[in-house]
Amino acid sequence: MTCKNKSFGALFNSKMMHSRLFIIAVITVVLWLAISSCRKDVPVPIPKSTHLPQVPGYFPEQHYDNPLNPITIEGVELGRKLFYDKTLSKTGEISCASCHKQSAAFSDPGKALSTGIKGRTGLRNSPALFNLAWHPGFNWDGGINHIEVQPIAPIQDSAEMGEKLLNVVLKVGARSDYQESFKKVFDTDTVTDKYILYAFAQFMSAMISADAKYDRVQQNKAVFTESEKRGLQLFEAQCASCHKPPLFSDFSYRNNGIEIQNEDYGRYGITSIEADKGKFKVPSLRNINLTPPYMHDGRFENLDEVLNHYTTNERYAPDADTDLPQNLELSKAQKADLKAFLGTLTDYNFIENPLFSDPRQ
Ligand code: HEC
Ligand code: HEC
Repeated sequence: MTCKNKSFGALFNSKMMHSRLFIIAVITVVLWLAISSCRKDVPVPIPKSTHLPQVPGYFPEQHYDNPLNPITIEGVELGRKLFYDKTLSKTGEISCASCHKQSAAFSDPGKALSTGIKGRTGLRNSPALFNLAWHPGFNWDGGINHIEVQPIAPIQDSAEMGEKLLNVVLKVGARSDYQESFKKVFDTDTVTDKYILYAFAQFMSAMISADAKYDRVQQNKAVFTESEKRGLQLFEAQCASCHKPPLFSDFSYRNNGIEIQNEDYGRYGITSIEADKGKFKVPSLRNINLTPPYMHDGRFENLDEVLNHYTTNERYAPDADTDLPQNLELSKAQKADLKAFLGTLTDYNFIENPLFSDPRQ
């Protein structure tokens, strides 16, 4: 018995000894790391994302899925580099991110109209960018029908980046850092317009926003407050036919009753069909708290103005969509409930995800 006890004691002591050594080793490593990170010549590494965002099971099928352009972390990082690169514009002043800022879910916060090269402005408000792989059409009028060609429009628009696509290919192709990345991602020795557009498509497809409180409730990881629940009911009754969950858009083109201004007829400009006058793409309401001002021309400064629009029938245009709320009256408390629900659509992890952040930061 004693012998057994002794050996047990010895084992115990040697374990203690090992764990002490282990703790000392850990402290040494931590101290070393702390000291070395204080040295000015050691660059602080950018936090890296090692995985692509996941698509929740309750999302519908993606619209974009090109087997010739499979999405990889390296491809997304290359697309990101292009997205933040001002040298792509004619004057070197403007990148995609100048008008699409991550902190605002890639919209242009506080700006009805964004500023392109040489201080020029266009006619429309910069939309937020996320869940783009589900969009069958791009821009407020759906004038662009494929994610792989979408970047050509802002690159070549004289009020945006004002550059010829061919010049972008020449500029990007002349840089050894880009040559290396294109080789790695697409196994090509030549940077072409196709691969530049593929890289953009990878970055834009990876921009998945599906981690708001709303999503955690769907996954039974959170519960709505009573006010949010009442807001959800109002939303389902009055708004969801167009702003359809879980993407909060059905991606159709509708006239939501706001007056036509600046001769911008929306979808009509693309189809020339009379009935399309004043129709615009139903925008997603995910991250809506982060993206004022609202509507295709940024005419409403805040959500109260938006709710006033939907509750004031006189302000509806004559050919407005019949799915719009009819004679809707909302008390102060009901407006607060609706806004509380809309607040559950903010995805704070999306706007902080390093996979989408400025690579130079
Ligand atoms: C000068 C500001 C500006 C710049 C620079 C810019 N955009 Fe945009 N972006 C806009 C505006 C405004 C729209 C809406 C255009 C419209 O509806 O006619 C838009 C629309 C989009 C859309 C469509 C979103 C949707 O919901 O349909 C995508 C995608 C997009 N931009 C990506 C990019 C990319 C990629 C770049 C860089 C190559 C870029 N943008 C550069 C202002 C800008
Ligand atoms: C008939 C379809 C329809 C219904 C119903 C509807 N909307 Fe909209 N909503 C639209 C369209 C279309 C736009 C874009 C209009 C434009 O910019 O010209 C829009 C724009 C918005 C915007 C601005 C989004 C942005 O990014 O600028 C908000 C916010 C909004 N709606 C909230 C609501 C709420 C809240 C309800 C319910 C009370 C609602 N909508 C009901 C079609 C609809």
